[in-house]
Amino acid sequence: MTFDLVISGGTVATAADVVRADVGIVGGRVVAIAERLRGGTRTVDAGGRLVLPGGIDAHCHLDQPQAPGLASKGAAMADGFRSGSISAAFGGTTTIVPFCVQHRGGSVTAAVADYHRRAEGEAVIDYAFHLIVSDPTPAVLGQELPALIRRGHASLKVYMTYEALHLSDRQILDVLATAREERAIVLVHAENHEVLTWLAERLEASGRTAPKEHAASRPLPVEREATHRAVTLAEVVGVPLVVVHISGGEPLEEVRRARARGLTVIAETCPQYLMLTAADLDLPDMEGAKAMCSPPPRDTAAQAALWRGIEDGTVDIVNSDHAPYRFDAGGKLRGGPGTSFRGIANGLPGLETRLPILFSEGVVKGRIDLQRFVALTATNNAKFYGLHPRKGTIAVGADADVAIWDPEKRVTIRNADLHHAVDYTPFEGLEIQGWPETVLSRGEVVVEAGALKAQPGRGRFLEQRTSSAYRPQGGASSWT
Ligand code: URP
Ligand code: ZN
Ligand code: ZN
Ligand code: ZN
Repeated sequence: MTFDLVISGGTVATAADVVRADVGIVGGRVVAIAERLRGGTRTVDAGGRLVLPGGIDAHCHLDQPQAPGLASKGAAMADGFRSGSISAAFGGTTTIVPFCVQHRGGSVTAAVADYHRRAEGEAVIDYAFHLIVSDPTPAVLGQELPALIRRGHASLKVYMTYEALHLSDRQILDVLATAREERAIVLVHAENHEVLTWLAERLEASGRTAPKEHAASRPLPVEREATHRAVTLAEVVGVPLVVVHISGGEPLEEVRRARARGLTVIAETCPQYLMLTAADLDLPDMEGAKAMCSPPPRDTAAQAALWRGIEDGTVDIVNSDHAPYRFDAGGKLRGGPGTSFRGIANGLPGLETRLPILFSEGVVKGRIDLQRFVALTATNNAKFYGLHPRKGTIAVGADADVAIWDPEKRVTIRNADLHHAVDYTPFEGLEIQGWPETVLSRGEVVVEAGALKAQPGRGRFLEQRTSSAYRPQGGASSWT
């Protein structure tokens, strides 16, 4: 057999196994995994290297159109599909799932068409979309979403906060019921909007407006209560639920309690909650705005609780929540140097640093093994979001999306070396070990020796199929 490409001599890791093997690729797909393969038109020497499935980043925001009252506070996103996908690829990620947002009063179908146009001709790696539902009208629930889900948009996102996005409990129930009907998976941003608004208004009224007050306005109980409520709504409707960006032990405890009741609840966390604390918001010259995301980073006890969750299997997925707002005048600080925390865009960049940070802090430091690293960063996302087995693993028949890692390479994270269009990284100066050197998407070299080898526009839209986590849950017997 003649292969288009053979990756030879590396250590291949999947969520299940770690083996010394060659990988043979034909037509963009893996066709053979064996001890020794000969006959590649091209060979990539992976001796001394790890051959991992390319990462899937299933929580990133790119070129999201703005509306008043969004997390952006009017700041434009610096990364679209081009710079976002390039940055992702340099960090070992080969699939991205950003968010297509419905604005209130608008149609989801039109938002999807617009978002396809934003992606077209831009991405260097493959992508799918989650759909943010901010206005679940009868037409959206009854016609638009069912049609879109059948066209491969099988994951829906709801917000419990942000002025322009948050839904009432009743509206969330409606979205969950549609998801149940159509076998879609629902993601939730869980923070209690009324409580955090009340706190923020009080803080502001007493002159406490610095970036660190962002954390004071969104303490852990705000997230814990909303997590409990979101899980309860999913329990009543009888559907699985993904709780995104969990920031500490208490919301994670709600996930454990839900699972003990037999519910399917998927838990996501992000590197910022493992690496930053609220002290990173308390810096001179508004520098704290760089670490301002929602929920906010907490404390070292929360970090330890999240690592325990990663180790014991409570955390299923680690995604970046890349939210590309620049720090300079056009971005987070567009309201001027003394802007109140309430006027600063929420979110921070992390597409390129997600995998290297988790590899270094997780695998190199011995907290998790390679299989678990692959599960957390690729395979589980593929399964939950209907992309498996085409994406998220190295297996015969899967797309040849592969990152070849140098596990010894020492890197000091510097924004100047990253490929996003954001003017900072919250991880500046962090010293880590391990970096993906060569990145393949469908068998084509996208990144090699520090250089981009792929043309924007080669990335393809991926239709999602029903999540492997999808199972109607018991609770629904009371209302169906
Ligand atoms: O602060 C954050 N996380 N910003 C991005 C939007 C979101 O909440 O996911
Ligand atoms: Zn579409
Ligand atoms: Zn969020
Ligand atoms: Zn987000």
